[in-house]
Amino acid sequence: MINSKLPNVGTTIFTRMSQLAMETGALNLSQGFPDFDGPQALCDAVGRHIAAGHNQYSPMTGLPALREQVAAKIQRCYGRAVSADSEITITPGATQAIFCAIQTLIRPGDEVIVFDPCYDSYEPAVELAGGRCVHVPLGQPDFSIDWQRLSDALSPKTRLIILNSPHNPSGALISRTELDHLATLIRDRDIYLVSDEVYEHLVFDGAQHVSVVSHEELYQRAFVVSSFGKTYHVTGWKTGYVVAPAALSAELRKVHQYVSFCGVTPLQWALADFMVEHPEHVEQLPAFYQAKRDLFCDLLADSRFSFTRAAGTFFQLADYSAIRDDLDDVAMSEWLTREHGVATIPVSVFYQQAPKDLRLVRFCFAKREETLRQAAEKLCAI
Ligand SMILES: Cc1ncc(COP(=O)(O)O)c(C=O)c1O
Repeated sequence: MINSKLPNVGTTIFTRMSQLAMETGALNLSQGFPDFDGPQALCDAVGRHIAAGHNQYSPMTGLPALREQVAAKIQRCYGRAVSADSEITITPGATQAIFCAIQTLIRPGDEVIVFDPCYDSYEPAVELAGGRCVHVPLGQPDFSIDWQRLSDALSPKTRLIILNSPHNPSGALISRTELDHLATLIRDRDIYLVSDEVYEHLVFDGAQHVSVVSHEELYQRAFVVSSFGKTYHVTGWKTGYVVAPAALSAELRKVHQYVSFCGVTPLQWALADFMVEHPEHVEQLPAFYQAKRDLFCDLLADSRFSFTRAAGTFFQLADYSAIRDDLDDVAMSEWLTREHGVATIPVSVFYQQAPKDLRLVRFCFAKREETLRQAAEKLCAI
């Protein structure tokens, strides 16, 4: 038997709940992916580029045309001029970008601060690098950074802090004031940042996403990660990118070139074309997803779930204590799936140590109107 390097990792809850949804025929509002396709023009472009022979390795750093489009978008959205050549690297998914950034930075004995509830891919990557995650719970009920806890968690071994805004699973957004505060806190320390911004274009109610790219001081020590999968409704394409100052990008690329070497070529061509032809896509995304959030929440207003509307992402948290306070959230998610035909994700799985009285499940509202209506009808009947 192999002596496992990741003894605590099993099948993820996302896979388990999606499987349970399939077995039971439940509507799947668990795993974070749309039940609709990406834009037709984008999907058509892939076939066109395959037919045109764009089927061999792309440059290791990514197709230049796509890197240029990402640079143009960053300039447009966040007002920063980044070099497409030396600061942007295209990766096979944000997950791979995060993995490479962690391998670039972390050595045995290093500590990495993550905020709970936290996305599940960070910790295994830290452990494989020989590091250790220090879990800092976000404040309740708004999932904001608890500065006292963060400052208590810092140690001479702290090498990296992983941020995630808009935040999965809560939808909370980091503000500029919070970034300023963070900059003050780590100014004189040798600490880097990975800023997971895969939901950067999914922010609602007129709010603006505050990217670490736009923060002059923090950007100098940051790897900022995003995902075309989330932005263009094509999560299965597993194509993302990482933006970092040239010196950091150069080190990250040394890792990336031996993890995957490059992303999938025809997908990069298609994305580059689409970004040229449809720059408005990202501007329209907030309204597109806000309409879905509002439809789902308006319908759920007649249920016994209680919730505050998500500020960002395509996830909505809901408190079910008025329905089954006797069940923990894992049991509740299974009960909802098996008995009521709607699959959800329990929020406790995003914690190292979840609060005992946590009664929250996560719904993904990246779904067609018909799916959201059917799901809400089932949920309101409970
Ligand atoms: C917070 C967060 N980061 C990263 C990812 C992964 O993105 P990708 O599919 O591009 O690897 C996800 C996907 O659910 C996510 O929720």
